[in-house]
Amino acid sequence: MSATTTPIIKFINGEQIPIELHKVRIVQKLHLKPVEERLKAVREGGFNTFLLNTNDIFLDMLTDSGTNAMSDNQVASMLQADDAYAGSQSYYRMERALREVFGKHYVLPVHQGRAAENVISMTFISEGDVIPMNYHFTTTKAHMELNGGTILEIYTDEGLKIKSDHPFKGNIDTRQLVEVIDKYGPGHIPFIRFEASTNLIGGQPFSMANMREVRSIADQHGIMIVLDASLIGENAYFIKKREPEYKDASIKEILHEMCGMAEIVYFSSRKVSSTRGGGICTNSEELYLKMRDLVPLYEGFTTYGGMSVREIEAMAVGMIETLDETVISQSPSFIEYAVRELEKIGIPVVTPAGALGCHIDAMGFLPHVPQEEYPAGALAAALFIISGCRGMERGTISSVRDEDGNDILADVELLRLAFPRRVFTLSQTMFVIDRLHWLYQNRELVGGLKFVDEPEVLRFFMGRLDAVSDWPEKLMAKFRLDFGESL
Ligand code: F0G
Repeated sequence: MSATTTPIIKFINGEQIPIELHKVRIVQKLHLKPVEERLKAVREGGFNTFLLNTNDIFLDMLTDSGTNAMSDNQVASMLQADDAYAGSQSYYRMERALREVFGKHYVLPVHQGRAAENVISMTFISEGDVIPMNYHFTTTKAHMELNGGTILEIYTDEGLKIKSDHPFKGNIDTRQLVEVIDKYGPGHIPFIRFEASTNLIGGQPFSMANMREVRSIADQHGIMIVLDASLIGENAYFIKKREPEYKDASIKEILHEMCGMAEIVYFSSRKVSSTRGGGICTNSEELYLKMRDLVPLYEGFTTYGGMSVREIEAMAVGMIETLDETVISQSPSFIEYAVRELEKIGIPVVTPAGALGCHIDAMGFLPHVPQEEYPAGALAAALFIISGCRGMERGTISSVRDEDGNDILADVELLRLAFPRRVFTLSQTMFVIDRLHWLYQNRELVGGLKFVDEPEVLRFFMGRLDAVSDWPEKLMAKFRLDFGESL
């Protein structure tokens, strides 16, 4: 019988290696530039990895969003795209795929995940409302607050621990949920939000048992559940691996059970199906009609929602592929490998390994850099300088300021190294681990950052920073000393 998930092979030397169940047929050339040019690029990009140019990047581990590798079938499907403003056959194929994967009848297409958040927040959130959730995502929080809502994160005690062996750090703390409902009253809680494979705390899943418990509390008070399914394939995979009751269940059965507990399921297709776009799904005609009219207003007609028909075709195929465990296990298996190797060399990293990426604890890595000087941003810049690998800051730079203008310090300072599906090879993964090892040995050379240009909303995207000293030059000098002429 052939493998149904990414096989982990035990090598003769005892090492455990994930093996890809795909072959590479289209490739893109990469550039590995000298350290001097990388430092120049970092300075030009205001020490913000979002502002780098891919020509200067070797391994782009910024995100898996829109960067997962497409399958041959996805690319092939784009040829049959049916160009039409309304009633496109491509749309109906996508609708059928979404119904099959999520078990929801009504579909609203949108141009990406945050557009779904806009539609949902505008429709259901009023001034003064609170929205309990396992953890926020940046764009989710921004849209909810824009509509007068306040997010309440009610994760469990394990949720923010860097080192843990808890299999479901993305669970909602049901005791806190009951307290929140008592305090604010169901009338001020438009919905409870579950985020699959909770992004900002390290791609950590929630369990089916937890969702069941939350569902039962929500039922007692007549509150809806909204599920952010952007990373739902991986969450389902972790349920199968880590929740014994589901060890023999199919991914489809798990997805249907999860989605069946939510009135509304929305997603960024940039993550879940290796394409662009997004959508909102529900079985309630009433909820569908409440949201529907915002789609032509903000996105495009309800049979394309801001996407091209080619993207819609590829999304339909990508959605069905989400049901294939060999597809959804690839990225988590590589992440698990990276986490294991980093732990071996003492680098502080979020455990257990989750979805989306490997998350390095920047406060543990750079204990001498105060949180006010953005250790995760500094670590991202330093890693880029010495390797050409681009990661993403997920710490205080991604947070906001309070009314007095002080930074609201993030709960965790993480450098996220994303593993988009089927994109990087094992030797590239080993290269990142090796450079991180060198950086860890030279960590005292890395200093902090300060803002020089700070947008008011979602500042991490376009904000510019500078180093607090000439530490980047010193780091580069040490790199040259140790690596010689090597890149
Ligand atoms: N929800 C989650 C859990 C996400 O991870 C994202 C995007 C969104 C919503 C928004 O979707 O980008 O299509 O508008 N996450 C990307 C990331 C940006 O890099 O983690 P979008």
